[in-house]
Formats: sequence, C-alpha cells, structure tokens
Amino acid sequence: MSLLLNRSIFGNPANAGNVLSRNEAAELFTSWVLNPHLQLHMKQVAQLMKCWAAEKQLLDDVTQWRWEMAGLLHDADWDQWPDMHCKKIIEELENRNIDPEIIHAIASHGPLYFGVEPETNMDKMLFAFDELSGLVHAYSLLRPGGYDGMDLKGVKKRLKEKSFAANVSRVDIDDACKRANIALDDLINFIIPRQAMVK
Ligand SMILES: [Fe+2]
Repeated sequence: MSLLLNRSIFGNPANAGNVLSRNEAAELFTSWVLNPHLQLHMKQVAQLMKCWAAEKQLLDDVTQWRWEMAGLLHDADWDQWPDMHCKKIIEELENRNIDPEIIHAIASHGPLYFGVEPETNMDKMLFAFDELSGLVHAYSLLRPGGYDGMDLKGVKKRLKEKSFAANVSRVDIDDACKRANIALDDLINFIIPRQAMVK
C-alpha cells in the first residue's frame, strides 16, 4: 500500500491565515479519531508544537494555534481510513479553505511515506516531534512513575534498544533532527516535561 501523495502543492495561497476554530477542530478530532491512544498521541504532538512555537519561535497566540492545529490533526484519518492517510485529512482541510502552511505541514510529516519534503519550520518540527513523542510516551508507560523522574539518559537507552517500541522509526528520528538542525538530546529534553502535562 503506497501512501505517496504524488503532489507538492497543497491548499490555496488565498487561504493563508485561515484556521479552524478550536470548537471546529475539536469536533473534527472527536468524530474522526475514536481510538483513545491515537487521540492522546495527537494531543501530545499538538502540545509540543504549541510550546515550540511559543518558546522557541516566539510566535503570537494566533500563530501558535496554527502550529497546534497541525499537530492536533496530523493523524486525523489514521484511525478510520489508514489506506487514505493522510490524503483524507488534506482534502478535508482543503475543502474547508484552511491555510496551506498547515496542510503542507501535515502532508510532509512522513517524507519517506508521503513523498513530500518538510520545508518550513512548522513542517520540520511536526516531523521531528511525531515519532520521538511516541517513543517517550511508550517509555512513560513502562515506568512506575510515568513521566516523573524521566530523564534524557533513560530515553536514549530505550532509543538504542531496537526492540523497544519497534514501530517507532529510528531512521525518521535521525532524519528529522538533521532536517530541523536540532540535537537529539535537546529535542528529548524539550519533549519530556511538556508532554508530561498532556493527559
Ligand atoms: Fe503522529
């Protein structure tokens, strides 16, 4: 099954700045994503995107929501329509006249699978957070204290164990750090405390 999108242009530039309201995004999220594990993953990535936009990019509240929205909806079609991932959510957001930057970020969150290169900071960070967030969460489930006391060393140890969270692509994590020009350690240290806040 190929998930290649076979195109490089997403959305309409005339829709720049258009977003879903928080209520509209929540409605789409809960009606499309029924699996609570996937819901949590998407909320975690949304939180990381929002925090990065606020803390590292110093973006305003309106722009932070654009980053958060990309994270919140990036896997929206994975639960019910895995064969159409991420074609279906892209078409939905295009039909709703959403900002092309958000759609491009979703389209490029797995360059090896969708065939779309991450270009903007938003694109690169969504790709960078996606897999690593999943591994950190899997590790939290193993620990008696969850995220309490979790540190960089422990995460890196799990990352080296290929059998741990084997579905998390180490190749993608390496690739994403290089593309975003971020040290793996810095990314892990950013993720742990912020992801811990998402329930
Ligand atoms: Fe994801």
